[in-house]
Amino acid sequence: MASSSTFGIALVLIPFWCAVNASTYFPVTKFFNVVNYGARSDGTTDNSQAFLRAWRDACKWKGKSRLLIPRGTYMLNSVTFIGPCNGEMTVLIRGTLKAPSIPPLFFTNTWIVFRYIDNLTVKGGGYLDGQGASAWRYNDCFKNARCLPLPISLRFDFIRNGQIKYLRSINSKKAHINLFACNNINISYVRLTAPENSPNTDGIHIGSSTNIKISRVNIGTGDDCISMVSGSQNIDISDVFCGPGHGISIGSLGRSFQKEYVMGINVVNATFNSTQNGVRIKTWSPSYSSLASNIKFQNIIMQNVNNPIIIDQDYCPFCGLRGGQSISQVQIKDVTFRNIWGTSSSKLAISLQCSQVVPCQNVKLANIDLAYKGPGGPAAASCSNVIGTSYGKLVPPGCL
Ligand SMILES: *[C@@H]1O[C@H](CO)[C@@H](O)[C@H](O)[C@H]1NC(C)=O
Ligand SMILES: *[C@@H]1O[C@H](CO)[C@@H](O)[C@H](O)[C@H]1NC(C)=O
Ligand SMILES: *[C@@H]1O[C@H](CO)[C@@H](O)[C@H](O)[C@H]1NC(C)=O
Ligand SMILES: *[C@@H]1O[C@H](CO)[C@@H](O)[C@H](O)[C@H]1NC(C)=O
Repeated sequence: MASSSTFGIALVLIPFWCAVNASTYFPVTKFFNVVNYGARSDGTTDNSQAFLRAWRDACKWKGKSRLLIPRGTYMLNSVTFIGPCNGEMTVLIRGTLKAPSIPPLFFTNTWIVFRYIDNLTVKGGGYLDGQGASAWRYNDCFKNARCLPLPISLRFDFIRNGQIKYLRSINSKKAHINLFACNNINISYVRLTAPENSPNTDGIHIGSSTNIKISRVNIGTGDDCISMVSGSQNIDISDVFCGPGHGISIGSLGRSFQKEYVMGINVVNATFNSTQNGVRIKTWSPSYSSLASNIKFQNIIMQNVNNPIIIDQDYCPFCGLRGGQSISQVQIKDVTFRNIWGTSSSKLAISLQCSQVVPCQNVKLANIDLAYKGPGGPAAASCSNVIGTSYGKLVPPGCL
């Protein structure tokens, strides 16, 4: 008897409770399916307006919103999803989003952008297909100075508390993922793919952002797998497979008038396969005064990597050969390279070329074992303007 009367009371109370709370809090998760807003998965209709209408409603909802993109191929022009929103947002990409392969998108620098949002998750197992093959020839900045502002596939600008997971990006026109002015973003189970010779297709590019975690990512692309520029702080990177690509890179730093800071970078448990670089810090020369500090690269396997360990403070692609005279003003300090094994595809497996004006400070090399089996071997190391120490095994020897 007692239980049935409790049940009766509960039945009466539920609608009442909902009515009282409805104006302040919606406890349920609500789905906003883009198909209900007119999206068509025929692979050719531009769905940007349908996606934006669905986003507008989802963003207004005061509970948890799920913007759902079901299976199918959705052609999508440039879209910017803007907050702030009234509750937690999840974008579930189950299908494939396809960028146009023709202008006018060539002349904007955005494809899919999320901006000014707190508590945003983008996931779902789907694909972003940037259709880059049609655009890469316009991205040939160094060779032909044909440099149009091509779109990054997925941009997060001013996002706080975000997650990007279970996603694939293929053939981005420029970078696959870009974080700008973000705080507390986790990226995991993401696979980013573009051909080795596709220009400027960075995997994940980070600037002006703090507290970023990247783990369990597989990146094979035409430029840096992960690059961190000015204002990148507290970045934890683990379980990365990189290759092909240009490695994990800090910089280039020191090009702007303002002081640039990169601090607290931890890279652990990474494998590089046939990449141009492994772990790299580079600064312009000449450059303005800046700081890169508290950087650790640990437990790293190099397979056939061209420049496994490299600091280049003489980066100046338009200067021609100047004989390694670095006049960079960027201070690099507190940098650890520990437990780095494998093979180099060039003789110079370790190259630390620091600035003559501000030498690198407190650089540690510990348990390094890199082999080179080609002509002119074995592997060699070259360091200039470096103050630091080495521990344990150091192969090739000769630095510190
Ligand atoms: C985001 O999450 C934080 C912490 O859980 C919460 O305080 C805040 O109200 C949330 N904001 C939105 C828009 O959901
Ligand atoms: C990111 O991961 C860390 C640790 O795994 C966790 O503390 C943090 O809340 C996560 N952030 C988001 C936005 O999910
Ligand atoms: C790196 O790998 C080691 C050995 O497998 C493991 O103990 C450690 O937890 C890993 N670190 C991170 C941050 O994933
Ligand atoms: C490593 O790179 C080589 C040469 O590009 C390639 O043949 C091989 O499949 C790659 N290995 C993995 C595990 O991706």
